[in-house]
Amino acid sequence: MNYRSLGNTGLKVSILGFGCGAIGGLLVRGSYPDMRATVARAIELGVTYFDTASMYGNGQSEANLGAVLRELGEAQGGRVIVGTKVRLGADADGRIAEAVTESVEGSLRRLGTEQVDLIQFHNRMDHQSRPAEDHWSVADLLTVAETFQGLQQQGKVRFWGFTGLGEPAVVLEAIQSGALHSVQSCYNLLNPSAGQAVDSEFPYENYSQMIDAAGAQGMGVIAIRVLAGGALAGTPDRHPVAAPAPNPIGSAKDYASDVAHAQRFGFLVDDGYADTLAEAAIRFVISKPQVSSALVGTSNQQQLEAAVAAVERGPLPDDALERIATVQ
Ligand SMILES: NC(=O)c1ccc[n+]([C@@H]2O[C@H](COP(=O)([O-])OP(=O)(O)OC[C@H]3O[C@@H](n4cnc5c(N)ncnc54)[C@H](OP(=O)(O)O)[C@@H]3O)[C@@H](O)[C@H]2O)c1
Repeated sequence: MNYRSLGNTGLKVSILGFGCGAIGGLLVRGSYPDMRATVARAIELGVTYFDTASMYGNGQSEANLGAVLRELGEAQGGRVIVGTKVRLGADADGRIAEAVTESVEGSLRRLGTEQVDLIQFHNRMDHQSRPAEDHWSVADLLTVAETFQGLQQQGKVRFWGFTGLGEPAVVLEAIQSGALHSVQSCYNLLNPSAGQAVDSEFPYENYSQMIDAAGAQGMGVIAIRVLAGGALAGTPDRHPVAAPAPNPIGSAKDYASDVAHAQRFGFLVDDGYADTLAEAAIRFVISKPQVSSALVGTSNQQQLEAAVAAVERGPLPDDALERIATVQ
């Protein structure tokens, strides 16, 4: 396993991060013995970053992750780095600091820890603040960041970041504010715009090279949707503990179209660059040096092991990256 800096935090994170959300579903819907075995195996294979959120399984993911890490003797202060998130609801309008504090305290209770390494804002950014529609402005985010800083002074969080989804120009403004340590960025074979320039014909959301902007700002970058929610595994089949086919983020209008578009990258397997499309997709993401950790949502131990094997093969070679850019 290789490790990269999480921006200027001083933390090193494994290049493969363990997604504890509802998409892979293991930490939400899996059996406890399966979760325990898969998390233990991940740690054994060198995975150190685990990504959860208060909203995943309505707190279930945090509670399960906390229980497993305690049982494994890997809770707080060990080699494992845990990131969780605050999702504000419309009722936070006008009381952001209180709502953030309540949420973080709830996360710490469920995780069974006194401090979390990374806390992240989990809402959508927009020009205007419209909490009822889950649109939050940079001013809102700065209030959130200030609250996180106060929680850091109380020893409850170490570092903080946000999710780079919503209006890309506003996400860039938030990155440039210098008020945050990390960003979660949607970046994959189907939509590489967070990490490379795309032209005006590009059919999907243009994430405006936010990964480069974050890197220049000294922020850590956690890549999400590395497998486009599973579409880049190349088949429409879903594992029983996985969520049903998820709505795409930043790519086609529906999952079936993403699965179809993923076939355009089949040459990566046919021409021997990778054994599977999922492997190629993961290696594409870690080919971007500013990505600190690529999150993969796993449904079972086999998927985890395949993801670890993928990152161990390293970034894709330059000629593969050039051919990918042509298809993209
Ligand atoms: N901040 C945010 O707003 C945000 C948003 C999305 C995700 N995230 C984070 O990112 C994590 C990952 O979620 P994601 O939505 O980005 O999903 P993803 O990792 O792009 O896709 C996960 C799906 O890929 C398939 N898969 C995983 N490993 C595989 C392998 N080795 N071979 C073949 N298929 C494989 C599984 O599908 P099957 O189960 O059907 O086999 C799994 O459900 C989440 O847990 C969360 O921590 C954060």
